[in-house]
This record gives sequence, structure tokens and C-alpha cells, in this order.
Amino acid sequence: MRIPEHGIGSEQVLEDIRALQVEDADWKSGHTWSLVYHASEEHTDLLKDAYGTLFSENGLNPIAFPSLRRFEAEVVKMTATMLNGDEAVAGTMTSGGTESLLMAVKTYRDWGRAVLGVQHPNMILPRTAHAAFGKAAHYFDVEPVWIDVADDLRADVAAMRDAITPETVLLVGSAPNYPHGMIDPIEDLGALAAETGIGMHVDGCLGGFLLPWVERLGYPIPPFDFRVPGVTSMSADVHKYGYAAKGASTVLYRTAALRRYQFHVTTGWPGGIYASPSMAGTRPGGAIAAAWAALRSMGEDGYLAIAEQIMAAARRLIDGVAAIDGLRVLGNPPASVFAFESDSDDVDIYAVGDSLENMGWHMDRQVAPASLHVMVTSPAHGEVADQFLADLEAAVDHVRANPAASQLGQAALYGMMTTLPDPTMVDEVVLQMLDGLYST
Ligand SMILES: Cc1ncc(COP(=O)(O)O)c(C=O)c1O
Repeated sequence: MRIPEHGIGSEQVLEDIRALQVEDADWKSGHTWSLVYHASEEHTDLLKDAYGTLFSENGLNPIAFPSLRRFEAEVVKMTATMLNGDEAVAGTMTSGGTESLLMAVKTYRDWGRAVLGVQHPNMILPRTAHAAFGKAAHYFDVEPVWIDVADDLRADVAAMRDAITPETVLLVGSAPNYPHGMIDPIEDLGALAAETGIGMHVDGCLGGFLLPWVERLGYPIPPFDFRVPGVTSMSADVHKYGYAAKGASTVLYRTAALRRYQFHVTTGWPGGIYASPSMAGTRPGGAIAAAWAALRSMGEDGYLAIAEQIMAAARRLIDGVAAIDGLRVLGNPPASVFAFESDSDDVDIYAVGDSLENMGWHMDRQVAPASLHVMVTSPAHGEVADQFLADLEAAVDHVRANPAASQLGQAALYGMMTTLPDPTMVDEVVLQMLDGLYST
């Protein structure tokens, strides 16, 4: 395939784009439980306008674009205030949760070298911390020490304490974690970090823009933010429950001195003095402007109102799933994210997932334990909750009546992958899949 010899008219190109979308996951109707956070059409129109207004500007050089510098500084400040940070808290925006976590790990690696004199740093994480920490470990050569979670599916603080070595630079907790929606015991982790003099990052990528409002609505949420002594940094994604355009997250540090280890400067380069706060060079001005627009236009009352809808739908779903014979909700998830497994030998949970897919739901599968994942991300989910529960019950009945279902489709693939004796075999299968995905 090559670039067309003669350019195609814009109308035709747009028509082609829309035609190619037909098989994409249907998120507008609430049939997708991840990937898209949608407040309303009206809000999305504002994001597009704000994004479009700064579409061409480049956050690489905030001196050239003072508006972007100001938007970024204010997004960071508003986020820090929301998370109960004091005046000293300092941060940057990044392109997303993954980049925020990459930056945090890089920061503690360099801080550990400079302040603790650690040459081969490790970090200690609950098994449920986001996979992006594994990526950060890989990229930055920080050894990840993954610790099994306790029976309640929250970080096992005693086991994490036992894993600390003189080379440990960082403890990680999530609020909440992606796989099960559980909030780790942040107060205990903060105390442990303070006692041992190491860093403690709270991954609030998912919950950072939701939990503050959920707490204010009166739901029981344990302290998870800068109020907790010992928490030295946090990440919170504006492009998730902040309802910004994609490409917007924040990473915040207790002090500007700690943030310093995130920055990179190349001097003596013929191209000039090159200073960069994060991974990217060129940074889309649109994403920064849209994040600012999202916070300003939603306001605290807007976030509270949407959090109320999200929580009502999540509670309805969690209670509804728990009431279905043959299914069990994992742990006791306090907010909008949860997973469920089978508690019956004749219900293969992956086959249930396939059956739901056949009914038009886009489902995410998980392993250890085998489960299906649900995130309530949009008010539209409240409107489809009852339909989902009815379809889920029908899917369970279907799987019970058709035991062969677990030998078909994704159920067979996941079933096979989870039983392979050697995990590197799974890596190889997935690498082959990746090769295939990025071919035309
Ligand atoms: C807890 C948590 N951390 C980090 C991330 C990574 O965020 P992103 O996909 O924006 O890179 C996610 C994504 O779902 C998440 O749930």
C-alpha cells in the first residue's frame, strides 16, 4: 500500500473514515465498559471546540505559547487542590496514565540514585497495580517486585514491608486499581514509606477525578490522596473521569524538588537548549486546552452530578451481578469499577463473555482469577444497566445449557492461554498477535 498518487477530496476521505468505523465498539449506547468516558454530546462538542482552537499549537515550547503554559499550570493546580495537596505540590501534564506512571518511576529511579545512592533500584507493587508499571520497569530498568494481594484483594502491606530492601526506592498503591476496582490501604502504605524513607506513589489515574466527588457524596472512601502522610506523588487522568479529550493526564509530586527528577535537559546540542518535562517532545496543544476546558466547564457541581449517576449505576450493577446464581463479584469494590467470576463449575466465565459479545456487549476478559471486567464510565451506562443484567443472566443460562461454548471463540483462546505451562509461551503468542495487528 502507498500514499494515493493524487489526493482524495476531503468529503470522500471523511466518508471513508465513517465507513471504516462500522465495526468499532459501540460505546455511545453504553455497550462498552472501558476505553471511552463520555459525559454528554454537549460536553464533547465543547472539548472538540477547545481542542480545535489550539489544534496546531505545540506544548513543547511554553514560551512560544503562553496560553498553553497557563492551561497546563492551572490544570495541574486545580487537580492538586482537588486531591488535597498543599501549595508545595507540583506536577506536569502528560499524554495519559501510562506516561504519568512512566514519569513517576523514572523520577524515583533518579531520586534514588541521587539521594539514596541506590544503583540498582527496585519498586514494590501489589499484583493489581497497572501494567504500565511493568512497562516503566522495563523501559527504565527498575526491578518490579510484584506482591500478591491479601484475601480482600487489597495490597498486602505486611508482605510489601517484608519485600523492602536497601535498594527499594518506591512503594505503589492504587485508588482504585484497574482489575478489581479496589482501593489499596493507602494510609498504611504511606506510613510504611514514611517510616522507611522511600517514595510512595498513589496511582489515581482511574479514580483521581472520581473518588473526591464520590467521597463528598457520602460514600465510604478511605483516605487516598495528599492528606495521607507518606504519599509523595499521585497520578490522575483528566481523560478518564475528568471527561477531557484523550491525551491528558497529570502527575503530581509532594514538592517541586522531587518533580525536578522528572525533568530532562540537553545542553550543548547544536539545536539549542532542550528542556522537556516528560516523555514526549511535541505535545498537542489541543489536549492541554481541552483538559482545561473540561475542568472549567464541568465545575465541582458538574463532577458531583455525574459522579452521582455513575455511582448509582455501579451499585445497581454490582448488586445485580452478585444476585445472579453462578456469578461472584470479586472483593468489595467501593466505586465504579468491578470484576466478576464464576462460582459454579458449569459456568465458564469466558464463555459468558462470548455470549454477551454475541448480544452486542464489548467485554474485557481478565485472568488470575478468570473474570469479566466492568467500568461504569458514562451516564449512558445507567440507562443500560437493567438490560445488561438481563442479558448477563441469559448468558449464564446459555453457557449452562451449552457446555461446548467454552471450546469456542475467545473462551477457547483465553482458556488455552491461562493453562499454558510456561508464561513465556503466552508472551510469544501475544507478540505474534501484535505483529499481525499492525499489518494492513
Ligand atoms: C489504574 C490505572 N492506571 C493507569 C492506567 C493507564 O492509563 P492510560 O491508558 O491512559 O495510559 C489505567 C488505565 O485504565 C488505569 O486504570
